[in-house]
Amino acid sequence: MKSKFFGSIYISIFAVCLFVSGCAEMAQHTKKVAAPKISGKAKECIECHEKKKISNIALRDWQYSKHAERGVTCVECHIPDVDASSSIKGGSTICDNKDVRRAVSPKNCEVCHEDQVKQFAAGKHAGAWKTLQNLEAAQGGSAAFKVENDCAGCHRIGSDEGKCDSCHTRHRFSAAEARRPEACRTCHMGGDHPQWETYSSSKHGSIYSIEGDDWFWENSISEWYKEPLLESPVVPRAPVCVTCHMSEGNHAVNTAWSFLGMRLSDDDPDWKKHREIYFNGLGFFNEEGFVADELKAIISGHEGELSSEFWQAERDKMIKVCSQCHTAGYSRDVFKKADAAVKACDELIVKAIVIVEGLYKDGVIKKSAKFFPHKDILKFNKFENPIEERLYKMFADRRMKTYLGSFHINPAYQHGYGWAEIKQDLSAIEAMADSLRKEGSEK
Ligand code: HEC
Ligand code: HEC
Ligand code: HEC
Ligand code: HEC
Ligand code: HEC
Ligand code: HEC
Ligand code: HEC
Ligand code: HEC
Repeated sequence: MKSKFFGSIYISIFAVCLFVSGCAEMAQHTKKVAAPKISGKAKECIECHEKKKISNIALRDWQYSKHAERGVTCVECHIPDVDASSSIKGGSTICDNKDVRRAVSPKNCEVCHEDQVKQFAAGKHAGAWKTLQNLEAAQGGSAAFKVENDCAGCHRIGSDEGKCDSCHTRHRFSAAEARRPEACRTCHMGGDHPQWETYSSSKHGSIYSIEGDDWFWENSISEWYKEPLLESPVVPRAPVCVTCHMSEGNHAVNTAWSFLGMRLSDDDPDWKKHREIYFNGLGFFNEEGFVADELKAIISGHEGELSSEFWQAERDKMIKVCSQCHTAGYSRDVFKKADAAVKACDELIVKAIVIVEGLYKDGVIKKSAKFFPHKDILKFNKFENPIEERLYKMFADRRMKTYLGSFHINPAYQHGYGWAEIKQDLSAIEAMADSLRKEGSEK
């Protein structure tokens, strides 16, 4: 009797629980947000846009954003701030309100988010557009480098002083979205920057892909690993891109090796010797042996990045990041091996540069008048001889794969797609040079 009574209570409780959790779930799917606070001017924008059924996606996503919740409207972003760049202010619009601009300046965001805008400006993303323009100038306006074409898709992150919707997309502007590694994927993948590939199939990335959907993304990065023993299973237990590259939520992205994994000065004398040949090969030294204008132009505003001091400060920062989970000694060992891998690549690439340089010197192959004074391994897809193309691949593709495979801890990239290929490239370049010289002497 007693057990039957309790049994039926349990069943009723169970049914109630089911009902409540069902309701909660339903409520979640049909979640209605509080009506956004809309000021006088924004009311005009929204009413007309709604009536004409234009920019539905903007209206819908904005409605669910923190901005709508806090009364930040279309006006605050789409009417340019007085300090906005002239490229925005001087532009035109298809909107009926002629004060409106589609492009939004970070100066508009700065009114409310000063820290993030200042940090962004101090990082490499802010220079991404300038890099491209300077490179185009250095290349004499070749079609492959036109900024509005293929390169712009990614390098636009630095245009108009910064595109803040690159990681938290409009019009949700969600911080949680930007914390996930997919937010970086579109740009940080492929050819000479396979950051996504090397990360996603590393052990860190594999844990993310198995467990990531269950992790809680609403907390700030700086709150994730404060107290290891109090951590819950929903705290990301493996690092994602922003754990390592935006620690503390800092919007200034930089790395130690930075500029394509190079720096100007070096305490290691062998490596320093290599690097001089290297920079020469990139056309970064002029005939007198000084840093050429091309390099200055590309790294303008970031020259400090090529120094040992900058390198060490960034490295120390990264070791602190790893130390949230591993011991500092553990990550130091990883970095020591990774640095050695980059050095090993450089040794072989320098051999290849010297071979190609010999061919130029002896008149076996002709160096293009259009490009840098020296044989240039940064000229992307404009080669006159297959041996130059192979050298470019060796530098820009295989070396970057070895470098990222080493630092993102991905053995397949470090070895198979990187180092093993570099060794093959050198043999191939040696063989190609031999036969070019043979052909030359037969003529
Ligand atoms: C927090 C800033 C912000 C707010 C608030 C905002 N926008 Fe935007 N909006 C942007 C950004 C950034 C872009 C992308 C601009 C670009 O192309 O570089 C954009 C793009 C657009 C576009 C063109 C892209 C498309 O998909 O059609 C429209 C239209 C637009 N916004 C309408 C609105 C309307 C309407 C509102 C108000 C409900 C609004 N926006 C509120 C920042 C904002
Ligand atoms: C009387 C109607 C009307 C009002 C008021 C209005 N818009 Fe528009 N808006 C339009 C139309 C029409 C377009 C063009 C749509 C198209 O051709 O696809 C447009 C386009 C836009 C675009 C895209 C601009 C571009 O050049 O690509 C943005 C952003 C925008 N409106 C924001 C606003 C904001 C912010 C306000 C309020 C300050 C506003 N609109 C007020 C009708 C209006
Ligand atoms: C819209 C494209 C785009 C997105 C999205 C993007 N980046 Fe970048 N990122 C770039 C470009 C382009 C550069 C190179 C800028 C330069 O030096 O010219 C860069 C540079 C960097 C660098 C500096 C590399 C160096 O040479 O020191 C880091 C670190 C970085 N990004 C991390 C991230 C992270 C983490 C995310 C995601 C949260 C992200 N990025 C999202 C385009 C993007
Ligand atoms: C008029 C002030 C104002 C302007 C302008 C503004 N924001 Fe915000 N933003 C806010 C407020 C308020 C919040 C909510 C803060 C909170 O809840 O902690 C917010 C939150 C955010 C968040 C975090 C959302 C989240 O998921 O936690 C992001 C990202 C953001 N804004 C980006 C931007 C960008 C990018 C721009 C410019 C294109 C911009 N904001 C312009 C006031 C503004
Ligand atoms: C490379 C990707 C990326 C770009 C570009 C980017 N953000 Fe963010 N943003 C993030 C990440 C990741 C977070 C989460 C930071 C954290 O958890 O502390 C974030 C958070 C924010 C927040 C919320 C901060 C808080 O503590 O709640 C604001 C506001 C913001 N970003 C504004 C901006 C502005 C303004 C720009 C343009 C100058 C910008 N972001 C560009 C990745 C980016
Ligand atoms: C466990 C930490 C960690 C994670 C996770 C991580 N990285 Fe890295 N990343 C590094 C380290 C360490 C380096 C090498 C830094 C150095 O010493 O120069 C690096 C280098 C880079 C560089 C510089 C490449 C260059 O050309 O100089 C970029 C860009 C980058 N990572 C982006 C990303 C992106 C995007 C993701 C996510 C898909 C990611 N990283 C995930 C630690 C990490
Ligand atoms: C898929 C996105 C993407 C495209 C397209 C792209 N880039 Fe980049 N670029 C990046 C990223 C990400 C970085 C930084 C990471 C790195 O250095 O490995 C970068 C870095 C660079 C750098 C080194 C800048 C520095 O300061 O370290 C140069 C130079 C460059 N890109 C030129 C170009 C040119 C020229 C094109 C067009 C032919 C182009 N990029 C197209 C994403 C892209
Ligand atoms: C959020 C915590 C976290 C951070 C931060 C972190 N790791 Fe890890 N790491 C893990 C976890 C979890 C594993 C898998 C379990 C294990 O091997 O301990 C792992 C595994 C590794 C492995 C073994 C990989 C393999 O294939 O077996 C290495 C090496 C490593 N991490 C290096 C680093 C370095 C270097 C950094 C900093 C650039 C770093 N980790 C940052 C959590 C982290």
